[in-house]
Amino acid sequence: MTRHLLRDDDLSPAEQAEVLALAKELKAAPYSCHALEGPQAVAIIFDKPTLRTQASFTAGVAQLGGYPMLVDGALARIGTRESVADVARVLGRMTSAVVWRTFGQERLEEMAAHAGVPVVNALTDQFHPCQLLADLQTIEEHKGPLAGLQVAFLGDAASNMSHSFLLAGATAGIHVRVSGPQGFHPDAAVLARAQEVAGATGGSARSVGDPVDAVRGVDVVVTDTWVSMGKEEEAGERNAPFLPYAVTTDLLAHADADAIVLHCLPAYRGKEIAAEVIDGPRSVVWHEAENRLHAQKALLAWLLARADAGGKPA
Ligand code: NVA
Repeated sequence: MTRHLLRDDDLSPAEQAEVLALAKELKAAPYSCHALEGPQAVAIIFDKPTLRTQASFTAGVAQLGGYPMLVDGALARIGTRESVADVARVLGRMTSAVVWRTFGQERLEEMAAHAGVPVVNALTDQFHPCQLLADLQTIEEHKGPLAGLQVAFLGDAASNMSHSFLLAGATAGIHVRVSGPQGFHPDAAVLARAQEVAGATGGSARSVGDPVDAVRGVDVVVTDTWVSMGKEEEAGERNAPFLPYAVTTDLLAHADADAIVLHCLPAYRGKEIAAEVIDGPRSVVWHEAENRLHAQKALLAWLLARADAGGKPA
């Protein structure tokens, strides 16, 4: 059966570990895998802005011997000009995988149902699983084995990054705490699913209101913009309530003395993260950005190895 990465818990704990191990191998030997030899095309579609995701997927597909087929979301107008299902049927005939950044998760699910090739979530309103593979790779590089580590995510705990940290962190056996102001707590179903996954891996998943409680003693502090793509009109309201969740030197003093700091970028210095933190010695954000390349190459190679022979539906 063709496999997809639509949300973080599409990978079992053992599968996530396989992808991360391959990411480590590919970081050491970037041109050693020819999973897209041909060159086979991978459709890469953006309905929202991008920098890292476009750069890492285009470079990554090329490094795997493939052809990165950028499809302009503004031109294709998927779901408006023609249905998601019809676009999926066409792209599935021409490509070996589809990578899509879009709004609702249901759009991605529709693509996966009809493409006949692996579909990868390059960020939706609900999840950002590719970022999490890079984040887990980065955390492992700096902190060692993931199981048992403590990670706090601060900011918009109802966001894609918070949800993905809950699910992917729980899958890795991490103790994940997400912390945001009233009205910005994680989706109850996602939190419950993360707790279910954590029950099997020895990790845990919690939503913690107080930011100091959230970061107390943790190995890793993570933040993200307070205003995700698509929420720009709420920027005014999304400032004052978030101020206590800003990752500052003072807040970091409550984390472990060797805690590292992650941010998926783009970053807004002086808002969700202080300049002295993101540009300081605890920040691993540039390693994290680089690891998008390695982790996504590993993911594509892993998915392609499991794709249906021929890939295309009858
Ligand atoms: N939560 C952010 C992540 C950006 C990579 C957003 O959705 O805009």
